[in-house]
Amino acid sequence: ADLPVGIHDLALRTSSLVLTHAELAQHTGADVVKYHEGIGQRSMSVPTADEDIVTMAADAAAPIIELHGTDRIRTLLFATETSIDQSKAAGVYVHSLLDFPPYVRVVELKQACYGATAALQFATALVHQDPAQQVLVLASDVARYDLDSPGEATQGAAAAAMLVSADPAILAINTPSGLFTQDVMDFWRPNYRSTAVVDGKKSLYAYLQALDGAWKDYQAHGGLPLDEIHTVCYHQPFTRMAFKAHQHLLGETGTQADAAAVDHAIAPTTGYNEIIGNSYTASTYLALAALLEADDTLDGQTVGLFSYGSGSVAEFFTGQVAPGYQAALRTDDHRSVVDRRRPLDYDTYRQLRMAPTHTNGAHHTLPHHAQGAFRLAALRDHQRIYEAVP
Ligand code: CAA
Repeated sequence: ADLPVGIHDLALRTSSLVLTHAELAQHTGADVVKYHEGIGQRSMSVPTADEDIVTMAADAAAPIIELHGTDRIRTLLFATETSIDQSKAAGVYVHSLLDFPPYVRVVELKQACYGATAALQFATALVHQDPAQQVLVLASDVARYDLDSPGEATQGAAAAAMLVSADPAILAINTPSGLFTQDVMDFWRPNYRSTAVVDGKKSLYAYLQALDGAWKDYQAHGGLPLDEIHTVCYHQPFTRMAFKAHQHLLGETGTQADAAAVDHAIAPTTGYNEIIGNSYTASTYLALAALLEADDTLDGQTVGLFSYGSGSVAEFFTGQVAPGYQAALRTDDHRSVVDRRRPLDYDTYRQLRMAPTHTNGAHHTLPHHAQGAFRLAALRDHQRIYEAVP
């Protein structure tokens, strides 16, 4: 257990379109300050018709595979709560698009926004079992709520790809973990719906209860005191939630902290989530990337991660930032995929949301709008046909 195992490479991708909250506010009648300050969101990524969780995940994984190859990867774990199929794992398409050899196990994992953290822990255990092996963990989601609902302003889309290995170049995953599960109906999506059902107020309460529970369990298993943790990358359904969570945890641990101190600790973790929106499973790892890219003085520091998945399952754990991590980051690459998004006006956004979804099995070819390296080219006989963009 002394062998450091954790995140060796981390790459993010998002979808090709962006709707700003300034544009949204003009049509919902909400005060834009509510969006910018109240929930802490400035824009949201929206997928084109030829983008989905598979294209974003393959796009995120591609630069990692280009750099490290597939030779040592024996397991590919795909976490999502916006699955495209009830049976086939989305990771199998990624396996194919990235030309993996057949000698790999591929599965999909689900527990709302928590799934990627389970995947990361399972990956860490597999690498401890055989330190020569690597595991590719993918987290990819499209967060969609009903039009004109309170959740609409918290939509988003992104993928995070993480290569888990021994002697990681970015973050070693520490023990213990604090765990918490509670059967609560705060947010769910029945199989027949394309948008989530959510009790917004209950979900905020459930998130904070899960934070308390996971923190208590972390302490019960010999976890570090909060003042020895540099900062915490919280799951960010909207970025204001991370500030609320940190204030709450400081209160629970009896620490006095004014709003300025909370801002100072949490603001560096919100850079991607505030302009991308909720990316469900990927959100906590977008927070981690934002933090590491915003601060090049974190060598050897301990950072906390809090992962929450409605329904609910949560985990609090820490990682130790690898000395020299700066050289392993993909900051310019991430900035460029965020910056290349094409702005949407509200009417086009609505039209995109109302467009037919072609579920009748007929052959339907999709026009090329995606900006990434992979796209959904067609639907045919109830199959999704993906292609690498030439
Ligand atoms: N200027 C400044 N601030 C303003 C404002 C204004 N003009 N108007 C409102 N605000 C503030 C409010 O005071 C409030 O802040 P506080 O909670 O700190 O008081 C904030 O803006 C939001 O206002 P409301 O509570 O009125 O917002 P709402 O009714 O529109 O709902 C929401 C907010 C419940 C988060 C809704 O967006 C939602 O349902 N989102 C989806 C569910 C969700 O994200 N839940 C989070 C926990 S669950 C989870 O984490 C899993 C997951 O990913 C989904």
